[in-house]
Amino acid sequence: MSALPVATTVAQLRARIAVERRNGARIGLVPTMGALHEGHLSLVHETQKRADKVVVSIFVNPTQFAPHEDFDRYPRTLDADAAKLAAVGGTDLIFAPSVGEMYPQGFATKIEVGGPSQGLETDFRPHFFGGVATVVAKLLLAAMPDIATFGEKDYQQLLVVRRLAADLGLATEIFGAPIIRESDGLAMSSRNAYLKPDERRIAGQLNVVLKRVIAALHNGEPIPAAEAEGKRALLECGFASVDYVAVRDAATLSPLDSLHHSARVLAAAKVGNTRLIDNMAV
Ligand code: PAJ
Repeated sequence: MSALPVATTVAQLRARIAVERRNGARIGLVPTMGALHEGHLSLVHETQKRADKVVVSIFVNPTQFAPHEDFDRYPRTLDADAAKLAAVGGTDLIFAPSVGEMYPQGFATKIEVGGPSQGLETDFRPHFFGGVATVVAKLLLAAMPDIATFGEKDYQQLLVVRRLAADLGLATEIFGAPIIRESDGLAMSSRNAYLKPDERRIAGQLNVVLKRVIAALHNGEPIPAAEAEGKRALLECGFASVDYVAVRDAATLSPLDSLHHSARVLAAAKVGNTRLIDNMAV
C-alpha cells in the first residue's frame, strides 16, 4: 500500500488534474472535513463508479462554524484519513489546503444561496450555508471536476450545493449518495466521536423516531401532528433539545400541506452538547 499524493495548494491541485485531463480522464471530487468514516469512504466508492480519477478534499472550513461552535475541537486526523483512503482504494489524490490557502489575507467574498437554504438548519445555524456555499464554490472552481459527490446525510446541504452549481452555471454534476448507518441505524458522522456511552445509546433512537414519524404519516396522521409527536418522542428518549422534526418537499424543502408530493422528514436534535441531524424519504 503506497502513500497517496497530497496537494496542499490550488496550484498543485490544478497541475495534477491538468495531467489527468490531458489523458482524457473524467475527474470526480469528494469534499470532506476529514475525520473520515465509512460514510465518507462510501462517497469515494460512489465517485469511483462515475469518474476515472477521484480527488478527496480534506479541509475543516472555518467559515461554516459560528464562534461558539466546535471549530477548534473538530477532529483533525490527516495522517489517519490518508491511511484509510489508501487502504480502501479508489482515491487518486488528496487535496488538503491550509486555511491561508483557501482564505488568503483580504478575502472578502461570501456566496449566499437562497431557495433550499431557507429554514431548517438556517434557523439554528444562520452562518452555516454561507460558509458551505463559499468553500464548495471555491473547491469546485479549483478542481473543476466532472462530478462532485455529497451525502444525503446532509440533505439540505446537498440541495443547496445543487442550487449553487446550477445558478453559477458550473459544469460539475452534483451526485447525491445514500446515508451510511451504524448497526443500530445511527447515521455515521464525525461528530459521533463526541458521544459518551449513554449519549451514544440515546443517539441511536433518532433514526428509530424518524421511522415512526413516517409510519404515522402512512397511517394518515396529519403532518403537523406527526412532527409534534416526533419531537415529543425524541425528548422522551433523552435528547436534551430538539431543533426540528419537519416533513418537507424532497426537492425544494418547502413545507407541505399533505403528502401529495415526494416528501422527506428531516430532524436535528442535541444529545448532551452534541448536535445530530438525520433525514429519510417518507
Ligand atoms: P463532512 O461533514 O466531512 O461530510 C463530507 C461529506 O460526507 C458530505 O457530503 C456529507 O453529507 C457526507 N457524509 C457524512 N456522513 C455521511 C454518512 N453517514 N453517509 C453518507 N454520506 C455522509 O459536509 C461537510 O463535511 C462540509 O460541509 C463540506 C461539504 C465538506 C464543506 O466544508
